[in-house]
Amino acid sequence: MKKAIIIGATSGIGNELAKLLVNNNYRVGITGRRTGLLADLKQVKPDSFIVRTFDITETQTTVQNLEELTKELGGLDLLFISSGTGDLNDHLDFSVEKSTIDTNVTGFTCVADWAFNYFENQKHGHLVAITSVAGLRGSRQAPAYNATKAYQINYLESLRQKAKHLRFPILVTDIRPGFVKTNMAKGEGQFWVATVEKAAKQIFIAIRNKRKVAYITHRWRLVAILLQNIPRAVFDRF
Ligand SMILES: NC(=O)c1ccc[n+]([C@@H]2O[C@H](COP(=O)([O-])OP(=O)(O)OC[C@H]3O[C@@H](n4cnc5c(N)ncnc54)[C@H](OP(=O)(O)O)[C@@H]3O)[C@@H](O)[C@H]2O)c1
Repeated sequence: MKKAIIIGATSGIGNELAKLLVNNNYRVGITGRRTGLLADLKQVKPDSFIVRTFDITETQTTVQNLEELTKELGGLDLLFISSGTGDLNDHLDFSVEKSTIDTNVTGFTCVADWAFNYFENQKHGHLVAITSVAGLRGSRQAPAYNATKAYQINYLESLRQKAKHLRFPILVTDIRPGFVKTNMAKGEGQFWVATVEKAAKQIFIAIRNKRKVAYITHRWRLVAILLQNIPRAVFDRF
């Protein structure tokens, strides 16, 4: 039986992927800040889930929790970072930007580094994180969200390069959704919105196929290509 940890399993994509993993013979450590929602998820298959409540912005307790949870699971093959936050912030309220940076940069880095070092020690493992198509360009509506997602994309690329140099089978997968129907899908003019079920299924296949980068749903790759090719002078007018 394989062992996985999901950071951010209380709701949305992480919650759905947790159910898919246990249905595919994984034992899963589920985490997040909302204990009640983790307890509800455990009810689905009590023997397959281990619950841990923690906030990834509190980095010292995060590391301690990851170590204890891994011990309880009896090892670790896959760590999936689904935690994330961000909000529309037209007036540049610094508290909104700070909480986005604390979670998507500080917390994310703490978890990713711990996982990579753990996998380096055991000489194998798979780190998967959800970034976003939003990380490919800036946004006047949500500057910190797009900027922190760009950070995550680059950080994962760095870890993939590091793994290649180590020559161990350590895999790093960057999942880039467009819109998925959860509380995180904010703003007007949304299109190609995937259900969480469809998103989780495509993510599971990307993990199984050891993909380096996967767009969710697949056609968001087209938007990514478009975004990356819009000239700056045009993009600035959006
Ligand atoms: N939905 C979309 O359209 C979309 C598009 C592109 C990318 N994404 C990304 O997909 C990921 C999953 O989001 P989602 O759409 O599934 O939304 P969600 O339902 O809001 O899930 C976010 C998860 O992150 C956890 N989380 C947030 N802050 C945390 C913290 N400080 N410590 C620990 N856990 C924390 C939440 O758990 P607690 O609140 O219980 O802590 C929750 O389980 C995010 O990284 C998001 O940026 C989503």
